[in-house]
Amino acid sequence: MPSGGCRRREARGILRLCRPIVPTNRVELRSTDSPFGFAQGKLRRLSPHSRLEHLLKTFTTIDEMRSASRAARRAGKRLGFVPTMGALHEGHLSLVRAAKASCELVASSIFVNPTQFGPNEDLAKYPRSFERDRELLEREGVELLFAPSVEEMYPTAADRACPELAEGSVRPTPVTWVTVEELSGKLDGRSRPDHFRGVTTVVAKLFHIVEPDAAFFGQKDAAQVAIIRRMVRDLNLPVEIVVCPIVREADGLAMSSRNAYLDSEQRKQALVLRRSLMRVQELVDAGERDAGRLAAAGREAIAGKRSVRLDYFEIVNPDTLDPVEVVGGTVLVAVAAFVGTTRLIDNLLLGRGSG
Ligand code: PAJ
Repeated sequence: MPSGGCRRREARGILRLCRPIVPTNRVELRSTDSPFGFAQGKLRRLSPHSRLEHLLKTFTTIDEMRSASRAARRAGKRLGFVPTMGALHEGHLSLVRAAKASCELVASSIFVNPTQFGPNEDLAKYPRSFERDRELLEREGVELLFAPSVEEMYPTAADRACPELAEGSVRPTPVTWVTVEELSGKLDGRSRPDHFRGVTTVVAKLFHIVEPDAAFFGQKDAAQVAIIRRMVRDLNLPVEIVVCPIVREADGLAMSSRNAYLDSEQRKQALVLRRSLMRVQELVDAGERDAGRLAAAGREAIAGKRSVRLDYFEIVNPDTLDPVEVVGGTVLVAVAAFVGTTRLIDNLLLGRGSG
């Protein structure tokens, strides 16, 4: 696992953001009253940046992570949790900021979860930038980072993984799954079978490891939100789910780690996803309420685009993910399309307001 160590330019930015400055080579008593379970009264020679290391503790094992978060909660702190697969962008950081605003301590995880990738999907090439991600989280004031290996998360499954797969693309097949039936087969679940059971399994595991009071998810993955909410409800998990609006690039493209796969021409073509949603918004504003006609208009907006292949364009109930016939109350307008070989998603919540 990569260790800490900030580049000087980055570190200056970090320090400017209200971090105490630690003189070079000062010997300090380390955190005798730490809520993170550090060794009490241990002497340690600090480098100029070790106060930063001190602020973001990285854990690679379940036991370490669990004892750190338990210690924090024993100290009476409300613990917020932001699970991610890394390759962080402003969308992820908006969740961290929301967590910081409402929780006294924030934990995040970086884990490219193999069980939510299909056999022909992008697990091996999924962008990985651990050191940069770690610095970003540190700068945002995250205190605890969980960054386990695949073997740590799926130990019993490791020996069942396909040995012929390249490193970084091992897809373990656990014996125990957490599956939200029905919902997991809708929207993205139709074209990505088994994707959502991978998501719910890893999120349930992460919730049990971190034991957060609140967990923060992005509206960008609207089906994921509906499914996780349902899992939490059905399994009586003691965690509050907080959903944050979609963060977009200046031109409207929803931020996504997968945008990195797009070349400049595809990047332009990708804007059609947002445009198709805006077309529906315009028609609704003009009085159209028939979901069939609205979805047809959204599909049409995509149809004309070279090198964009529609996966789905649907108008559904945001909780059940079932199609609606008439737009009234809150509905989710959701689109997924392949731009070249990159699958992108976007959505719009009508009647409740979203990003
Ligand atoms: P990942 O794709 O890394 O996303 C982590 C979180 O960031 C998710 O809650 C996602 O909805 C949110 N997010 C991504 N792009 C966003 C944007 N443009 N605006 C707002 N939020 C955004 O989603 C996953 O990872 C995984 O499925 C995970 C939940 C970590 C389980 O493995």
